[in-house]
Amino acid sequence: MNYDELVKKYKALGIETPTKEMIKTPEQIEGIKRAGIINTKVLDYVEANIHAGMSTEEIDVLVAKKTKELGGICAPLNYEGFPKSVCTSVNDAVCHGIPDPHTILKNGDIINVDCTTIYQGYYADASRMFMIGEVDPVAKRLVEVSKECLDLAVKNLKPFSRLRDIGYIIEKHAKENGFSVVHEIGGHGVGVEFHEDPFIYHYGKKNTGMVLFPGMVFTIEPMINEGSRQVFLDASNNWTIYTDDGGWSSQFEYTVLITETGVQILAH
Ligand code: MF3
Ligand code: CO
Ligand code: CO
Repeated sequence: MNYDELVKKYKALGIETPTKEMIKTPEQIEGIKRAGIINTKVLDYVEANIHAGMSTEEIDVLVAKKTKELGGICAPLNYEGFPKSVCTSVNDAVCHGIPDPHTILKNGDIINVDCTTIYQGYYADASRMFMIGEVDPVAKRLVEVSKECLDLAVKNLKPFSRLRDIGYIIEKHAKENGFSVVHEIGGHGVGVEFHEDPFIYHYGKKNTGMVLFPGMVFTIEPMINEGSRQVFLDASNNWTIYTDDGGWSSQFEYTVLITETGVQILAH
């Protein structure tokens, strides 16, 4: 069935369908895959080099250097005024942490490093958590559960599944483990631009929302909090989001492709 026929079929059922821009061409998919390969290599490089005693600014330098070496561009730098090449979010920072020479990683810290690479005009976006030295068992469990939430959501993805199932699965698993899901920030279409439609909710009601067509490329990036899901924006930089209660927050992000038969992770 082609796009128009599928739209007609689902519209008749009263189900929201993706716009044509949300369906990537084979050429675009190849481009996003190449960006994803570089992005993964950059995160692997961070993983091999991150350590207690280094500043988040040093992570920024590593990411900028490795991305350049591989022929890519760091998408965060100057994106809507963001001042650095990567986001580094430590402990109670939920996301959009700004690398800084005075933020030194210490034993017991958990940190999210979020890299987005542009290669030949195409974007791939992914993030990982790193645990520095001996981490509190609750923080460790939070990091594990946040990864499980993402992996469970991806495992359930298939062509013509429903968008809100992603969030349903994520929030269910987080809550079953005593944790909460940040609602205000979501995943997003990605590939031709950094942030595209649709918004990918990390909570929701199962069997609702847009039907997912093959060729859609988007991120899933649930932010899971130890305590309350409530967050606030750091007014001093207008970027970094923190947990209201000062509890830990953990996030992993993949760029995924819906294929004709299932799902493919393009960046992790
Ligand atoms: N990489 C983030 C995301 O997952 C976006 C960061 S925007 C930036 O969507 F400007 F802070 F880099
Ligand atoms: Co993203
Ligand atoms: Co990201």
